[in-house]
Amino acid sequence: MEALESRPRRRFLNYFLGSSLGAVVVSFLYPVIRFASPPLIPEATTNQVEAGDTSDPLLMTKGFKIVRFGAEPVILLKVTDTEYRAFSATCTHLDCIVGYQKERTRIFCNCHGGAYDLNGRNVSGPPPRPLTAYKVNLLAKGSEPAKIVVSKA
Ligand code: FES
Repeated sequence: MEALESRPRRRFLNYFLGSSLGAVVVSFLYPVIRFASPPLIPEATTNQVEAGDTSDPLLMTKGFKIVRFGAEPVILLKVTDTEYRAFSATCTHLDCIVGYQKERTRIFCNCHGGAYDLNGRNVSGPPPRPLTAYKVNLLAKGSEPAKIVVSKA
């Protein structure tokens, strides 16, 4: 009689402990598997990205824009109507994202006041190295605005 009463209780305990153990194992394995598998960033393997065209409102007004080059942010500068430059947008000091001060014609990092010239050279503040340069090509097609292609230098 006693054995019959304890069977459902035992089954419940086995089920409960088994599923709890399963949940613990999954909670440990999931982050390990996610950490070990590489993220899916399709542009990460490419050597060039299309960064819009020369009529881009950001380039026309602010003189720059930040574009993604795989996982890397790149700052694209409009130096003149026909000259564009691109550099890594990651400050070489502590990895903040840089911006462009059009009125002072310099690349500036707001985090600690670092500044770079339009060749990407660190000219003041704490950045220890220049910004990595990228190559910019303009692909003109008739009277349409030229496409801007940024590639590794
Ligand atoms: S992170 Fe740019 S100056 Fe410090």
